[in-house]
Amino acid sequence: MFGKRHVLSMRDFSREEIDSVLDLAESLEPYARGGRCDALSGKILALLFFEPSTRTRLSFETAMMRLGGKTLNLGPAEGSAIAKGESLADTIRVIGAYADALVIRHPKEGSARLASQFSPVPVLNAGDGAGHHPTQTLLDLYTIRKESSLEDLKIALVGDLKYGRTVHSLAYALALYGAEITLVSPPSLEMPAPIKADLAGKGTRVRETHDLDSVIRDVDVLYVTRIQRERFPDPYEYTKVAKSYRIGPESLAGVQEGLIIMHPLPRVEEIAPEVDDTRHALYFKQSFYGVPVRMALLKMLIGDRLD
Ligand code: NCD
Repeated sequence: MFGKRHVLSMRDFSREEIDSVLDLAESLEPYARGGRCDALSGKILALLFFEPSTRTRLSFETAMMRLGGKTLNLGPAEGSAIAKGESLADTIRVIGAYADALVIRHPKEGSARLASQFSPVPVLNAGDGAGHHPTQTLLDLYTIRKESSLEDLKIALVGDLKYGRTVHSLAYALALYGAEITLVSPPSLEMPAPIKADLAGKGTRVRETHDLDSVIRDVDVLYVTRIQRERFPDPYEYTKVAKSYRIGPESLAGVQEGLIIMHPLPRVEEIAPEVDDTRHALYFKQSFYGVPVRMALLKMLIGDRLD
């Protein structure tokens, strides 16, 4: 249904295509929980992670195993020929001949797109520096569709909107659903101007503020992100904004009954652990939804059958 395409940026997706991934994820969810399925038996997925990852790497691996397929893991760059100076292009050419698809996470923006130019098989971008993280967005949308609603959605994106790739991808997708977006960040970590211009060009309703308290009671979804310490050129600049927002139980007074709080994780200090026990906390469920959503993507990209 999808053909042998790459998954590099949400800008390449239409709303219909996204809906078809979410629908398939819904039908695969029982298998994500442990049912038997062999839709990808005989298929191999290569995992190339040049940056730390827990959920993305392991949920891709779980997704592949739940579908009866297998994974190849490049492991840390020090253990591969990258350490001898091999280029990304050559690495991709070689591994692309071993596997049916490649998942890549890399600190450089644009690296997944570069990889796609050398890969004979589909490339899935699992995060390229401060660029994009489209598979995270698909699981975010799945979470919102299941636990809140994508119709008439009012959502606040909170935290590091400058370096956070999850919110860059999510903003593009939300524009397709006509969501009303409030951007909440410290002044130095605002959403990049080109993305805001793209959203405006699509007629998206966007507000910008530095004050979380002024919007928290108005929204259906609070999407909280970590300040991306590793992307700051100057560590001192990080310490100035590190504690900009901290959501505790007291922050939730007067919020909507059905408010859901999401976070791509890992969280550091931006959500207090006491929030975990409130009905609003959705982030751990959200991370589980990475499994059915990645199963759906893999089945669409490399499955032989459409049943
Ligand atoms: C995010 C990432 O890697 O961009 N993590 C994830 O994939 N769930 C968010 C982050 O690291 O803060």
